[in-house]
Amino acid sequence: MKHLLGTESLSHANALAILDTAEEMAAVGEREVKKLPALRGRTVVNLFFEDSTRTRISFEAAAKRLSADVINFAAKGSSVSKGESLKDTAQTLEAMSADAVVIRHHASGAPARLANSGWIDAAVINAGDGTHAHPTQALLDAFTMRRHLARLAGTASTGTDLAGLRVIIAGDVLHSRVARSNVWLLRTLGASVTLVAPPTLLPVGVEHWPCTVNYDLDAALDAGVDAVMMLRVQAERMHNSFFPSTREYARRWGLDDARLARLDTLGLADTIIMHPGPMNRGLEISSAAADSPRSTVLAQVRNGVSVRMAALYLLLSGDLHDDAATPFSKDAR
Ligand code: CP
Repeated sequence: MKHLLGTESLSHANALAILDTAEEMAAVGEREVKKLPALRGRTVVNLFFEDSTRTRISFEAAAKRLSADVINFAAKGSSVSKGESLKDTAQTLEAMSADAVVIRHHASGAPARLANSGWIDAAVINAGDGTHAHPTQALLDAFTMRRHLARLAGTASTGTDLAGLRVIIAGDVLHSRVARSNVWLLRTLGASVTLVAPPTLLPVGVEHWPCTVNYDLDAALDAGVDAVMMLRVQAERMHNSFFPSTREYARRWGLDDARLARLDTLGLADTIIMHPGPMNRGLEISSAAADSPRSTVLAQVRNGVSVRMAALYLLLSGDLHDDAATPFSKDAR
């Protein structure tokens, strides 16, 4: 497997290989000297056509901890603003001997286009494309859930999947590449997923996804849950009105203070609260929920570095097997 474009076709074996390697990378992160020589002499290009804080910084930290040379490219301030195409931009970077290109793009399918085009030889890692996929976010979320399960069981997490874990993913599913990548990866790892959203914020065809759908957050919580993942309301992608008001949205679909307290009332003492960030505090999540001891928001960011180190290392060392092809990844290997 040369590229990481999505999670839909990522096999159980490859997902576990990335998560297990991320555990080893996390152990390196706890040493005084946090660097490994594994990618010395290799070049990683971070190609960001869309804004990012967490993903861009953690890919940079991950590549540097593996001793790779890192080139950071942001479309803003580059020749893209003069009309340069993705092909010409990619080939310019290829001329700088890139071994891996980490790409975030507003267009769904742009990373696959880069991987399949023959324009470049580098491994391509999707750092988020349109509403399609964000595979390393889903992997770091799975890593966070797996560590939580292991802590509860008092065991090591290495080698285990998420069988039996009950996950709610709530909010703006329609615009969320995080939700899509999580649904597929969690299915592969054996978790059960319930999507909760207003009908207007669910995509056409969601009934074919490997999950259940509920419009009522309270009913979904009442059924029992181990991890509640709140999604950002992506106002910048909304060109219509999808709900009556932000107040109404927070009341019906937000993880507010009352629902945070309800987790205690329901006896869900070990349920964690997740959010990929950036958060709209007071809209999809209250500050009390985001900052509560249940929240894994900062652990997710921390785990992102370990997971991205694992993905870079495994792809560039050729240690992942070929997975089955999907429409977005076929011919990509
Ligand atoms: N979760 C996530 O992708 O955050 P950024 O947009 O800050 O990278």
